[in-house]
Amino acid sequence: MENVTLKRLDKMKSGSVKIACLTAYDASFAALLDQAGVDVILVGDSLGMVVQGHSSTVSVTMEDMIYHTSCVSMAVRRSFVISDMPFMSYTNVEQALRNATDLIQIGGAQMVKLEASARQVSVVRELSECGVPVCAHLGLRPQYVYKLGGYSMQGESDESAEELFSNAKSLEAAGADMLLLECVPGELAGRITRECSIPVIGIGAGPECDGQILVLHDVLGITQGITPKFARNFMTSAADIQAAIAAYVEAVKNSGFPA
Ligand code: KIV
Repeated sequence: MENVTLKRLDKMKSGSVKIACLTAYDASFAALLDQAGVDVILVGDSLGMVVQGHSSTVSVTMEDMIYHTSCVSMAVRRSFVISDMPFMSYTNVEQALRNATDLIQIGGAQMVKLEASARQVSVVRELSECGVPVCAHLGLRPQYVYKLGGYSMQGESDESAEELFSNAKSLEAAGADMLLLECVPGELAGRITRECSIPVIGIGAGPECDGQILVLHDVLGITQGITPKFARNFMTSAADIQAAIAAYVEAVKNSGFPA
């Protein structure tokens, strides 16, 4: 299988080939995902919850992200590796440049992801102009959990949908190479996917996005506590973990997931 690059992901979008993405946090799972044909592996700050046992992602540090990104990138041969910039690691351009450099140079990431709104446009522009591929995460932004008072659907009112759409366009114009939409109505996600020329990956954002992502632990049915409504446990009809991951990839590719 060909190595996954940004160019290839762009081609997948233009050729309507769905992009299968999953999170991983260590070398063993990263190797399994890579071999199973997962296009994009995200070292998500969800590791704060599913690996470290916290109730949110806000306690994750740059040190944690560099460590887990190195573990993953060491094992990956063909998938594209994205690393999350943790809470408060991109509050201004200088800090964002320094931390993104570490995720790429020390961690081995090929792209960084940050939770974005209009405020992050200047950070995205500077990262992009300095040669850092950026994924802008819009919609539900888990790092804002204390501001939001919980995890809920975003972009449901006409006004918030317009704001989200306009932020997506501004972030693309600033140089973002990918968008990730979390928990937004499917209709809005479809509009953003059609109107933006960069790949748009969805989680709880309906079937019209260019690709889908889930947290690995949800796919394997080992998440403790509440599992998001949009997730699917692929272990229920699989003989082993490898088969479950392959079934997830297949379901994304043939639009069997999300239903
Ligand atoms: O941190 C993470 O795993 C994420 C996914 C939920 C998309 O951002």
